[in-house]
Amino acid sequence: MINPNTIQTIFETARVEEVVGDFVTLKKRGANYLGLCPFHNEKTPSFSVSPSKGIYKCFGCGKAGNVVGFVMEHEHYSYPESLRYLAKRYNIEIEEEEVTPEIQQQLDEKESMLALNTFITKYFSKNLFEKSEGKAIGLTYLKERDFRESVIEKFELGYSIDQWEDYSKHALSNGYKKDVLVGTGLSIDKDDRLLDRFRGRVIFPIHNLTGRVIGFGGRILSSEKSKAKYLNSPESDIYNKSKVLYGIYFARNAIVKNDKCYLVEGYTDVISLHQTGIENVVSSSGTSLTVDQIKLISRYTPNITMLYDGDPAGIKASFRGIDLILEQGMNVKIVLFPEGEDPDSYARNHTTSETESFINNTAVDFIVFKTGLLMKETEGDPTARASLIRDIVKTISIIPDGIVRSEYIKECSILLETREQILMNALNNILRQKYSKNRNIPRDVIPREEVLDASKKQVEVNPLDISYLENDLARLLLLFGELIVKIKTEDNEEHSLSISEFIISDLDNDSLSFENNIYQQIVEEIKKAKQDDVVLTVSHFTNHSNPAISSSAIELITTQYELSDNWEKNKIFVKKEEDDLFNLALSTLMSFKSRLISKKLNNISEQLKEANDGAEIYLLQQEFFELKKLANLIDSELNRPFNY
Ligand code: CTP
Ligand code: MN
Repeated sequence: MINPNTIQTIFETARVEEVVGDFVTLKKRGANYLGLCPFHNEKTPSFSVSPSKGIYKCFGCGKAGNVVGFVMEHEHYSYPESLRYLAKRYNIEIEEEEVTPEIQQQLDEKESMLALNTFITKYFSKNLFEKSEGKAIGLTYLKERDFRESVIEKFELGYSIDQWEDYSKHALSNGYKKDVLVGTGLSIDKDDRLLDRFRGRVIFPIHNLTGRVIGFGGRILSSEKSKAKYLNSPESDIYNKSKVLYGIYFARNAIVKNDKCYLVEGYTDVISLHQTGIENVVSSSGTSLTVDQIKLISRYTPNITMLYDGDPAGIKASFRGIDLILEQGMNVKIVLFPEGEDPDSYARNHTTSETESFINNTAVDFIVFKTGLLMKETEGDPTARASLIRDIVKTISIIPDGIVRSEYIKECSILLETREQILMNALNNILRQKYSKNRNIPRDVIPREEVLDASKKQVEVNPLDISYLENDLARLLLLFGELIVKIKTEDNEEHSLSISEFIISDLDNDSLSFENNIYQQIVEEIKKAKQDDVVLTVSHFTNHSNPAISSSAIELITTQYELSDNWEKNKIFVKKEEDDLFNLALSTLMSFKSRLISKKLNNISEQLKEANDGAEIYLLQQEFFELKKLANLIDSELNRPFNY
């Protein structure tokens, strides 16, 4: 494997005009070179090479690419073969990505830790099932809790003997190294003795995604108040508790199958639910939920249902978790168990179908849950009520999808018996602060009749117009995305933001995205980079490892010549004045949004013609109504003189 630094050096060193020049006779034309296209037969040259952009493009056959792409296309080489070719051409020494001794050692260390954990897991399990202390204390306890042997074996539960030097000695005598024992946290190095961390406890091994044991939780069996109920492995090179979920290995398939993940508080909740046949369940094991844990779930499903104890601590914990889940664009429901019960006790005292229907019938959307709870708290106190409304709207504002947000505002208005307009204003306020964008436009409500009336009318939309506008926006993002513009808001405050920030946050605000998948991928990458404070240049995209992206990017920044008639018509980029860039971005954005919405409105009225189910018609009308509001908003913005 070629090392990434080498790849970068190759890209930085190889000159497209030189590499192409080895195969094609090129003549200088202004800033570019022109020649006969090597990819199709032609008599007049239309093959252009741009040294500044590092790309080639044939205006005859449309082939385009960067320097590596050229070698691939011309020599029919694979990507690595092309890189090797270029490295040779420029005398660049290829560093192969080989594992350094340092990295190898780290890998070996991790591997030894995992191997030790496997060994100890088996040992604990043997203690539980075969040793008299284990059977008398550990197994008896688990049986009292109604855990069946099959589930004990599945989760590899075990028991640690109540002595200071039991398994540590056993592992040493089996050749496991002291460093590794200490590294995993299983043993504690004290005055040159290796002491067992877990003594006289029932052991819950913690598995990673691939089923390997990365840590342990140990439950004490006596009710001694002085000792913590659970003792857990400390963090180590293999165990990062904020990145793992207890039970994920056993739950993965069921999560996908049910398209839903239950999130519980403890080890025993996971196991009991499993035992009753509910397998799509994981636990954050006592630590407060983290973004990494949510992202782990999001690999399998966007739907999380939190199963919590009905005590105040459980409720508080759920609030924070809810916001985190919403922030990831996921859906969250909550089930509160009756006072004094948790999923484990409930599953134990009820049949599978009772547990299932309890969960299904009790699960409420976060908004109903949060509103209901807070309403009770603030009864008869108007100030508290106002802050409750803000609190709830704030949670709604976390949801990335604008359409979902407005659905929740609607629902919330019913629950809180507060006018939707008021909630919408509060939401807009928060969003504006977030996007540091202060264009405050009141959202007018359109009478229902008008909606129905408007939905009958057909709007003319030329689909080509949309793709042109999409191209324009994508091109703006690529070429000028990082340029900073200053905008003045209505209250005369000045804000600096980049063109890409402006375009992307504006699209996000209205939950609009590009129909062109590749462009949308480019947007997602820009967003992600922004989060990490990284600026992506044009060449990041023209040299992208995904050929679909690199060729689109190249296409975008080269087509302006091709489409010059059209450019003229659209008055875009003709002036090429960067002072005007903001207005250009704004008007392109607005035209794009307005056409996209017209297109969507058209679709809906088409669907309305076909629809005959009452609920469906109602839903379509609702959607139409929402979009129409947005359209009016944009129209008013398009017609407003810009004072930026
Ligand atoms: N926990 C912990 N350390 C503690 C207490 C709790 O790590 N001292 C974690 C464990 O992962 C535990 C979870 O928090 O599973 C939930 O705690 P709790 O509800 O108290 O325990 P249960 O799992 O319900 O255990 P049990 O039913 O055996 O009491
Ligand atoms: Mn419990």
